[in-house]
Amino acid sequence: MGAFAEGLDTAIRRGLTRAVQFTAPAGDYDRFMGRYAPTLAAALADEAGVTSTMRVLDVGCGPGGLTRELAARVGAENVAAIDPAPHFVAACRERNPGADVREGVAEALPWADGAFDAALSSLVIGFMRDPDAGVGEMARVTRRGGTVAACMWDTAAGGMTMLRIFWTAVRSVDPRVEGERRMAGTAEGDIAERFERAGLEDVVGGELTARAEYADFDDFWEPFTFAVGPAGHYLSSLSDERRAGIREACRVALPDGAFALDARAWCARGTVAV
Ligand SMILES: C[S@@+](CC[C@H](N)C(=O)[O-])C[C@H]1O[C@@H](n2cnc3c(N)ncnc32)[C@H](O)[C@@H]1O
Repeated sequence: MGAFAEGLDTAIRRGLTRAVQFTAPAGDYDRFMGRYAPTLAAALADEAGVTSTMRVLDVGCGPGGLTRELAARVGAENVAAIDPAPHFVAACRERNPGADVREGVAEALPWADGAFDAALSSLVIGFMRDPDAGVGEMARVTRRGGTVAACMWDTAAGGMTMLRIFWTAVRSVDPRVEGERRMAGTAEGDIAERFERAGLEDVVGGELTARAEYADFDDFWEPFTFAVGPAGHYLSSLSDERRAGIREACRVALPDGAFALDARAWCARGTVAV
C-alpha cells in the first residue's frame, strides 16, 4: 500500500475523513448506496413503528431516501431532516417538498427537547464524530415515551454483500487494509449498547434486510469509481493498476448478467424514559 493510501486507510478507521466522504453529487450516491434505500428505509420505519399521526426526524438524511419513506407515512409537513453536506440538504429538500430539512450534525440538533415522536438515523452512526453524543441528541429531541431507532450496515461480519465483495477484493490485493469493519455501529449489538448508555429504555437490537438489483457487473462497479463513502474514497486514492486488480477480483466474485444482492444492517430501537 502506498503512503497516501495507507494514511487514508488509517484515517477511515479513525473517522477523520468523514467530511470528504460525501462530497459526490446526490445522483452518484443514489447509484452507489441509494439503490438500497427503498427496502432499508421501509424496514427501519417499520422497526421504529412510524405511523401516520407522528412527527418524525431523519438524522443524517443524505439525499433523502429515508426522508421520503417517512414523508409517505406521516406527510412531509410532519418530517424534519438534517445532514452536514449542503448538496445533500439541497437534494433532500427538493425531493421532499414541505419537509423541514436543515444543515447540521447529529451531535448538535437544532430542535427543542421532545419535539418529535420518533428520531431515526440510517447508516450514519459510523460517520458521526461522536456517535454517543449523536444518540444522546436524538433522545433529547424525542418526547418522553417516543422512539429512537438507528441502523448501520453489517460490515464487521460481512452481511452487507456489496461492501463485503469490495473489501474482500481489496484485501486480496493488500491484506492489511481495514476498510469499514471497525466503524461504530457495524458490529452486532453495538448500536443497542450505545442506546443503553444514552439511557434509552426497552432497548431492542436486531437486524434489517435490504436488497438492490444490478443490471450487470458494470452497474455494480461504476458507482465505486464515484468516490462515494469510505469504499469509493479509498478506491480513488489508488493507482490505476491497483484499481484494475480490485475490479477484476470483484468481477470474478459476481455472476454474469443481471443479479441482486442482499444487505444486512444491524439496528436498534429504544424508548425515551417517561
Ligand atoms: C451513508 S450516508 C447515509 C445517508 C442516508 N441516511 C441513507 O440512508 O442513505 C451517511 C450520511 O451521514 C452524514 N453525516 C456525516 N457525519 C454526520 C454527523 N455528524 N451528523 C449527521 N450526519 C452526518 C453524511 O453527510 C451522509 O449524508
